[in-house]
Amino acid sequence: MDILKAIFTRRSIRKFTGEPIKEEDLKTILKAGFQAPSAHNYQPREYVVVRDKETIEKIAEFHTYGKMLPKAGCGIIVCGDKNKQPEIGFLIEDCSASIQNILLAAHGLGLGAVWCGLYSVTKLTEAMADVLNLPENIIPIGMVVVGVKDEDKQEVDRYDESKIHYDRW
Ligand SMILES: Cc1cc2nc3c(=O)[nH]c(=O)nc-3n(C[C@H](O)[C@H](O)[C@H](O)COP(=O)(O)O)c2cc1C
Repeated sequence: MDILKAIFTRRSIRKFTGEPIKEEDLKTILKAGFQAPSAHNYQPREYVVVRDKETIEKIAEFHTYGKMLPKAGCGIIVCGDKNKQPEIGFLIEDCSASIQNILLAAHGLGLGAVWCGLYSVTKLTEAMADVLNLPENIIPIGMVVVGVKDEDKQEVDRYDESKIHYDRW
């Protein structure tokens, strides 16, 4: 898919068929995640791919807005390594850029995906760290739920000239 077409047509997909995604598609999606820019090029990101039913159920139990995970069958938890990037703002931005790449790659492959926020909601990051057995320096920033989609969404135009400021506010 053309990059601009992907950007303009990507939407959050929350309905899934339950079919598993192909291994090669998962690899492509993860590669896209790794490819994102990062401050100082530290690449402080780690990825936990969750497909185990029991683990998925545990996550869906505590994540109020992640209830689509069991049907999708796959969650990618994008984590930041505080030891590699101690500046938390940069860590969040590095992981967010990676998440956006993952969303676009999934869309480009014809799959559905949705970003489910974790950081900085303490009850979500703590519960996720607990379920995934994350080391202390690894912060779960966001989860991308990805699967074979069972809905199509219209492209939306969010361009707003009034929010663009040229040369000064
Ligand atoms: C930081 C962040 C956290 C989000 N968390 C959730 C979530 O927990 N559950 C969910 O269904 N969607 C979540 N979303 C998706 C937004 O609801 C969605 O991007 C927004 O409504 C715009 O719709 P679109 O993605 O279809 O363009 C999140 C998006 C971002 C950027």
